[in-house]
Amino acid sequence: MQSKHLNGFPSDFFWGGSTSAYQVEGAWDEDGKGPSVIDMGRVVEGTTDFKVASDHYHRYKEDIALFAELGLKAYRFSIAWTRIFPSGEGEVNSKGIDFYNNLIDELIANGIEPIATMYHFDLPYALQEKGGWSNRVTVEAFATYSRTLFEAFGDRVKYWLTINEQNMMILHGDALGTKHVDANNPMKDLYQQNHHMLVAQAKAMSLCHQLLPQAKIGPAPNISVIYPASCKPEDILAANTFSALRNWLYLDMAVYGRYNSTAWRFLEERDATPTITSGDMEILAKAKPDFIAFNYYNSQTVAQSAGDESDINSTGDQQITIGEIGAYKGVENKHLVKNEFGWEIDPVGFRTTMREIYERYALPLIITENGLGAFDKVEANDEINDDYRITYLQQHIEQVQLAISDGVEVFGYSPWSAIDLISTHQGCSKRYGFIHVDREEFDLKALKRSKKKSFYWYQSLIEKNGL
Ligand code: BG6
Repeated sequence: MQSKHLNGFPSDFFWGGSTSAYQVEGAWDEDGKGPSVIDMGRVVEGTTDFKVASDHYHRYKEDIALFAELGLKAYRFSIAWTRIFPSGEGEVNSKGIDFYNNLIDELIANGIEPIATMYHFDLPYALQEKGGWSNRVTVEAFATYSRTLFEAFGDRVKYWLTINEQNMMILHGDALGTKHVDANNPMKDLYQQNHHMLVAQAKAMSLCHQLLPQAKIGPAPNISVIYPASCKPEDILAANTFSALRNWLYLDMAVYGRYNSTAWRFLEERDATPTITSGDMEILAKAKPDFIAFNYYNSQTVAQSAGDESDINSTGDQQITIGEIGAYKGVENKHLVKNEFGWEIDPVGFRTTMREIYERYALPLIITENGLGAFDKVEANDEINDDYRITYLQQHIEQVQLAISDGVEVFGYSPWSAIDLISTHQGCSKRYGFIHVDREEFDLKALKRSKKKSFYWYQSLIEKNGL
């Protein structure tokens, strides 16, 4: 076998770290912030989960100093829509603008490129009360919100991500706190919400190019290669269908401004196609992303549908396939090991995923999430020996280098998460960060920061530009 020639990482590669507002900031009702669907739906009485989170809102300076020490070249964070518009629309909350101005300035002062996600699961509750994404009003609210962000921060933020994991919000809404408006045809309602988000995203992308010609903007779905359970043609067809629904529906629309034909047919067969308002397809066709940001945790494997309820054999967790009767059924991949939460680990699938996206769209890629959730243990002298995380990240970074060597244009890798934060639905004991935050589910303790073993490992890797 010929040995593979390895290309190095580009010298300006964005070695990053990622977080999202509601999972890290806390201060859920401070300085004029309005409630989001997360605050209203997910805060269980008696816990401090998202109310305080990692208290980054009050400790961002200390955290950014640690990010600088870690050597981050970029920090991917999200802006809480409800800090800017407490009711999702209407009056701007100047204290919300102040917070992100300070955060962005602090990043830049520390030589860290800010990469801002505009919306990461935390829809303003006031908009939800009006029907959320089912109501077209939310499209306009998002367009106004995006204009406000570009005008307030566009002089310093050059990289924008529109909507985090829109595909997961549609496919795994229950795990992520997405509210579905009860309708006679829930699937149609869901894909109406999806359509509205796609139009909102397109408007934001076009507006960004109009207002900020130097800036770059892209979508941020969760993309993964879909394996067929076997080489049986029906399994391969099932994998093709699932990939269309999970991956390409979102990216075909973002890049080409058209509905993926397989996904559209799937919706037609279920009487679930969205209503398309006149002008929508033009808005969608006109908008063009500059890059594709994507999150990757693992691959998915599916088999031919059994045609009954046994297809739906999932916990609903966002990285475990929920089957679709008549289309596909999620199955285990016996070639892969799982993490403590049942997520399969597949570094090679990461390389395949990068190739697939790049071959299809020929746009530069940035990985905006990848990482290992685990129950970390604090040992003597505050040491956290998270070798399992180092192994996971190292194996995945190797695949980024291989993908680059395959000819895929990758300009950044920003793992989840820069610092410990609250998991989407498994509390704070499921940790991802390079920096440990001393708190428990019900006991806030001192929220003290300490560096894990992975911090020093990532620091040295960044110093050597990934070699
Ligand atoms: C992604 C989300 O789905 O996965 C993050 O964008 C999330 O918000 C991450 O935290 C890891 O998932 P979890 O459920 O372990 O927090």
